[in-house]
Amino acid sequence: MRTYIFLIITSLIWACQSSQEEVCHINAGVNPNGESEMALFMRRIASECDLVKAQILKKEKAQFNFEATQILKATMTKGHNMDGAYTAYAKTFINQVEQFNENANKNNYNTIILNCINCHKTRCPGPIDRIKKLKLP
Ligand code: HEC
Repeated sequence: MRTYIFLIITSLIWACQSSQEEVCHINAGVNPNGESEMALFMRRIASECDLVKAQILKKEKAQFNFEATQILKATMTKGHNMDGAYTAYAKTFINQVEQFNENANKNNYNTIILNCINCHKTRCPGPIDRIKKLKLP
């Protein structure tokens, strides 16, 4: 139990420190340098989540159609970078999307959303409110 609390505290401290430098915008057009590939990719996956969420609620067949590995390939807005934490969350994301496409259910879907939120907490908290709305009740 004690180790668990210690881990939570260290990851919180670490999350606060690493989010200080990287600012993240929520809406289109805020970035004067144009939109990065990653920002566009993120917007795409967010709108596919909207779609898939609706499909699951209607008990329709659901599947993601984006190339999940882009999360490790797309170029990011200046100031963002792929550190070890990012890469770990990104790999988890790729596995989770694969799992969802094999077995599309509420549980596998919400697992993806939780990982979105966790990665964002470490570097890019702006879109978290938007992402939380993607959760299935
Ligand atoms: C591995 C970490 C990571 C994961 C997982 C992740 N994101 Fe992101 N997200 C980022 C980073 C970093 C940016 C900023 C990208 C940039 O500006 O180049 C971003 C940006 C965004 C944006 C803002 C795009 C814009 O308009 O600038 C949205 C919305 C978003 N993510 C939604 C999501 C959703 C929804 C998921 C899960 C389905 C998700 N993200 C998963 C790291 C992540």
